[in-house]
Amino acid sequence: LDNGLALTPPMGWLAWERFRCNTDCINDPKNCISENLFFEMADRLVADGYLAAGYEYINIDDCWSSRTRGDDGRLRADPERFPSGIKAIADYVHSKGLKLGIYGDYGNYTCAGYPGSLGHLQTDAQTFAEWNVDFVKFDGCYAHPKDMDKGYPEFGFHLNQTGRQMVYSCSWPVYQIFSGMTPDYASIAKHCNLWRNYDDIQDSWASVTTIIDYYGDNQDVLIPLAGPGHWNDPDMLIIGNFGLSYEQSKAQMALWVVMASPLLSSVDLRTIGPEYRAILQNRAAIAISQDPLGIQGKRIFKDKGIEIWARPITPVVGEYYSYAIVFFNRRVDGTPSQVSVTIHELGMLNAAGYRTEDVFAGQSYGVLYPADRLKVDVNPSGVVLVRCSAVPARAFGRPP
Ligand code: GLA
Repeated sequence: LDNGLALTPPMGWLAWERFRCNTDCINDPKNCISENLFFEMADRLVADGYLAAGYEYINIDDCWSSRTRGDDGRLRADPERFPSGIKAIADYVHSKGLKLGIYGDYGNYTCAGYPGSLGHLQTDAQTFAEWNVDFVKFDGCYAHPKDMDKGYPEFGFHLNQTGRQMVYSCSWPVYQIFSGMTPDYASIAKHCNLWRNYDDIQDSWASVTTIIDYYGDNQDVLIPLAGPGHWNDPDMLIIGNFGLSYEQSKAQMALWVVMASPLLSSVDLRTIGPEYRAILQNRAAIAISQDPLGIQGKRIFKDKGIEIWARPITPVVGEYYSYAIVFFNRRVDGTPSQVSVTIHELGMLNAAGYRTEDVFAGQSYGVLYPADRLKVDVNPSGVVLVRCSAVPARAFGRPP
């Protein structure tokens, strides 16, 4: 969607994967979906360095609203759990330099059964704008997938009409795919800033790898859709939760940055371990994610449990891109696998070479030329993420 927003994949925090639809604030006041949760997470995003690293959105998901609309026909926040109202949360997060996201649904109900927007598209867009919301995730439960080709653009029109800039996150294609339709991706990329293509992420390595396989297997369709303002969304980062090991967490981060995916972390920021926080805040990984070219990376090799993924990035030197390369080990035999490949075989032909840096090890392999070999040891269910920056050819006639 060409609305000037999401020129790089959006970064932030989203409640759903970790906190779900826990509305029991009596017995579980610290973890229920309430304004306190968002106030606390906003504080953590700023105090613990996430905002400085680029995570700027704090996004409310399902179960924030009252079970019924107000007498004025408008959506309203649950009065017990959100006594201050959504606008007060927006004001608070804005005062801290963050932006606020909210959740709605195109159908009759949200996925968790709260009021949907069907029949109220204009009113709900207006309400979100009046609350000073910056990001809207619009889900597609309790709707006919066929209607979405009209309905999602219609809601986008109303968002636009409000005059407030809001990132528009759509679940449009995923509902169509699961009902056997072929999504009209040209229209989806035109009307949405990001869109979910596939299943919800869950807190497990199996879920992460299933998603990675989907994006790899469908890359010829999906890669051309991505670019500044419009991104495929493989769903949240689950790094720091219960389901992933340290190696697997680096793997999710590496694959997500190379796939030019939104980086929406869903984790308890109050209890996340320092090593997981360091993965989320790895500056070199984030720089790849936020590369201004916005080209989605590709799986270029897959054999016997080893995959190689490559994303073209800046700097571009003459006709040569720089690259972020992920060496991904899917094997489970308990010892690292060595992968050895020439720079040329990775598709890098710049005769002046590439400055190479291991992103997670923070270590340089020096300048490598097309005939040179890059040799890495990749841990089981882990990755090595290497940034290869094209070196400019020395200008002719200038002294060295
Ligand atoms: C759907 C979405 C999830 C989440 C839930 C909320 O399943 O895909 O990301 O928003 O609904 O109920």
